[in-house]
Amino acid sequence: MSHLIQQADLSAIEKAAQLLRNGKLVAFPTETVYGLGGDATNDQAVAAIYAAKGRPQFNPLIIHVPDLGALEPLVHMSEAAYKLAHQFWPGPLTMVLPRQSGSPVSLLASAGLDTLAIRIPSHPVAQQLLKKVGIPLAAPSANASGKLSPTMPLHVAESLAGKVDLILAAGKSNIGIESTVLNLTTSPPQILRPGGISKERLEQVLGPLPETGHQTEDHQPLSPGLLSSHYAPHLPLRMNAHEADAREALLTFGPDHFIKGGALRLNLSPSGDLNEAAANLFAMLRELDQPHFNGIAVAPIPTNGLGAAINDRLQRASIKS
Ligand code: TXA
Ligand code: MG
Repeated sequence: MSHLIQQADLSAIEKAAQLLRNGKLVAFPTETVYGLGGDATNDQAVAAIYAAKGRPQFNPLIIHVPDLGALEPLVHMSEAAYKLAHQFWPGPLTMVLPRQSGSPVSLLASAGLDTLAIRIPSHPVAQQLLKKVGIPLAAPSANASGKLSPTMPLHVAESLAGKVDLILAAGKSNIGIESTVLNLTTSPPQILRPGGISKERLEQVLGPLPETGHQTEDHQPLSPGLLSSHYAPHLPLRMNAHEADAREALLTFGPDHFIKGGALRLNLSPSGDLNEAAANLFAMLRELDQPHFNGIAVAPIPTNGLGAAINDRLQRASIKS
């Protein structure tokens, strides 16, 4: 076995925690599937997750914590959320909840949304790692976009070699399908993705639930607009701007001295680094989205690498729904 894959003993878990604190990516076992983990509070680490998966879109990621104490600073828990937590956590349930205003979780991890998808996994290695690292971990399934979710360390290595710094190995994930994603910000709550906890079991706690909503797993082709909610600024947004007027806010990329105008100008990455641009995207859009401007102009952004996902999000933001 190469040094990329290490048996998840105490020293490997310690090493993983150190890598994660330094913004690196670590694949780790959960009871559902292996996750590709990164520091959820670090925009650059979250951008690296999207880059490693090669997703053409920023789908919001699940945030993993070891216990309720670690979760309470991140999201608002409702009474129903506590009931579900009591019944199903730790375990294969993900709850979408309103983000706390002071939540340290990266806006990129939730693709700009005011909600966070959160889960407390039961796998002992995931538990030990989360406790040791002491920061919430964003972790999608540890596979390249379009490939099946991995249930074995070797699957992760095949899919992500060169893109992950360490794979913690602990045999096969015993559930083998992802967690159920339940949106608790709507009334009644809605299942967004079927998974390890059945609708029937949720209904025993919540009463009747509506039909399951859109599926947004990354191995399911997701046509633009299908993801039921996405971040949209209040101001109109126009793309591929080569100049801005005096009342527009301007978002640029790379060297931008030749782009004139803009009441407030922010640069996603002066050096032209698309991962840095992704890391800054949602925070900068929010900063520019102020009522005293009359629109947001965005300079052209390349479409290679994370540029595809950046352009996809801007495209959605530019279509007023
Ligand atoms: O079992 C699992 O859940 C695995 C393991 C590693 O924990 N993780 C996983 O994560 O499948 P990911 O990032 O591949 O799945 C994210 C799912 C997507 O369906 C996404 O659309 C939804 O959760 N999601 C995340 N944040 C959301 C939000 N704020 N609102 C609505 N849906 C959200
Ligand atoms: Mg997946």
